Amino acid sequence: MEINVMNRRSALARGFCSLVALVGMAGWAGGLEPAASAQPIKVGHFASMTGKEATFGQSTDNGIRLALKEINEAGGLNGRPIELITYDDKGESKEAGNAVTRLITSDKVVAVLGEVASSLSLAGGAVCEQNKVPMISPSSTNARVTAGKKYVFRVCFIDTFQAAAIATFTREHLGLTRAAILYDQTQAYSKGLRDDFTKSFKKLGGEIVADQAYNGGDTDFSAQLTTIRAANPEIIFVPGYYTEGGNIAIQARKLGITAPLIGGDGWDSSQLAAIGKDAIEGSYYSNHSSPDQPNMKDFVEKYQREYGATPDALGGLGYDAMMVLFDAMKRAKSLNGPDLAEAIAQTKDFKGVTGNITIDKNHNAQKGVVIVQIKNGQPVFVAEVDPSKSDKK
Ligand code: PHE
Repeated sequence: MEINVMNRRSALARGFCSLVALVGMAGWAGGLEPAASAQPIKVGHFASMTGKEATFGQSTDNGIRLALKEINEAGGLNGRPIELITYDDKGESKEAGNAVTRLITSDKVVAVLGEVASSLSLAGGAVCEQNKVPMISPSSTNARVTAGKKYVFRVCFIDTFQAAAIATFTREHLGLTRAAILYDQTQAYSKGLRDDFTKSFKKLGGEIVADQAYNGGDTDFSAQLTTIRAANPEIIFVPGYYTEGGNIAIQARKLGITAPLIGGDGWDSSQLAAIGKDAIEGSYYSNHSSPDQPNMKDFVEKYQREYGATPDALGGLGYDAMMVLFDAMKRAKSLNGPDLAEAIAQTKDFKGVTGNITIDKNHNAQKGVVIVQIKNGQPVFVAEVDPSKSDKK
């Protein structure tokens, strides 16, 4: 399914025609080859535009298109506009693989942006790797997404770091010792975060009093929550995505569990509080940025002007992924996969809206983790956590 491309296309086509006219005239006057260079450069985006993680894809696409608008208004890449082609993967691995294959083989994109969910980035990344086409994930945090890959990059931190930050916050900021875990065993992201949190939390003197699993798409969590209630935890770590996070909060409160819940970045959606309502109030989650951070102000205003909504972290990460790609395109020897990948790998101290981005040797970025708390249905900044500065290390 192709989303929201037609309007942009006609806008692009208009820009394209005037460019052709300009370049054509210049070529005519100067005896140069006419206009081939004004062809748009295609970039692909595979995303969950629909399905239970739909806000992930929608927010990311908004962020990417905001970046593209600025890039194209400023003349694109040496006068060539950049065209974004977005395919909906519905939040499913198989669809993700198919979308990336189609972007590369039929649309001939020079690079791919996506996905949000780590399992889908693993699926799409395998296709990019095989075809030697660079891919930048704005927000997938599982270590395996980039590990050992030549063509796959990300502009965010990884889950060993995120989990250590959540563990440090729980132990040292909240002062809690007894944690239960309820994770999604079908998602690489959730499983990895559960493993990493368990290690970090124990190292900091914490105890995992219950460890329960669900399958993404489940709607009844009462069996797991009954077991968790019996273990009497002080906090429940739920490293999954927002739809289940909201439903788990509701069902936990129904069972009389009053302990706060804490999630990872996978909770970042306006839908979390829309689903969880009062039950999610006071709970925490870790994230890449928070819209009430002073350094986010300009971007938040820009996004609000364009879309009439406050961006979640994915809006900023999508914007940064596109800007990092464009920066690499400008520096690359050519737009061939290997040349472009080499330029992305050399990204250093790029000033993103979500923080400074340096791509390290494992193709990851090292950036801060923030913790937010849900108050009146909105995520509110609580702390920035650097686990390397933990008291217990
Ligand atoms: N980090 C999550 C994953 O890897 C995706 C995510 C990032 C979701 C940021 C929301 C916000 O699956």
